[in-house]
Amino acid sequence: MSSTGLFVTLEGVDGCGKTTQATLLVEDFQNKGREVVRLREPGGTRISEKIRLFVLDPQYDEMCDECELLLYEAARAQLVREVVQPALERGAVVVCDRFYDSTFAYQAAARGLPANVVSMANSLGSCGLAPDLTLVFDLDPDEALERATHEATDRVEGEGTEFQRKVRNGYLKLSQDDPNRVHVVDAVGSVEVVHARVRKVLAECLGGSWS
Ligand code: TMP
Repeated sequence: MSSTGLFVTLEGVDGCGKTTQATLLVEDFQNKGREVVRLREPGGTRISEKIRLFVLDPQYDEMCDECELLLYEAARAQLVREVVQPALERGAVVVCDRFYDSTFAYQAAARGLPANVVSMANSLGSCGLAPDLTLVFDLDPDEALERATHEATDRVEGEGTEFQRKVRNGYLKLSQDDPNRVHVVDAVGSVEVVHARVRKVLAECLGGSWS
């Protein structure tokens, strides 16, 4: 898949603050005159938003891990084919709140599905597309979950702190395995302080195209 754009993904445990940081990052790229497409996973297309409603709905507590995995991948494939791939081909910056690293952290590291199975599913769901840069917002799950559940508890947030701790460890493993792409950002501190850390990582990774 050829692309001239830039694909940036934001990751972390529920309540880590990545959505607020995504807004600021989008503004940064827009201020540099770039077209920016902001997305979230699961979601971003008619089909993927429908899947989101279904996969996060707490009433489906009988959902097995394999079913959950495949629903996330189905939502992802539609998003990649319908939105991400065309946006990258026309040179846009795509900022996506979660992508396939979430599937590794949640479905493999936390739920316990075998990593090789999740990896194969991710290949299919991403249609072979990999992010250029991934920021993992790292925050203690107790603090993060408190933020996340202020408004509503979805099916995944309802899993509690121990689950989120496994998710966090999954992300830390990903950053060790793929340090050139996956960058951990300390998410402790004010919105401005964390945003400054994000800008530092982008300057280091993107160099001239960022400054
Ligand atoms: P959000 O609340 O950040 O929008 O994410 C939705 C929830 O879905 C969140 O709890 C993480 C979970 N999730 C997975 O378990 N696997 C995935 O592949 C994705 C994209 C999200």
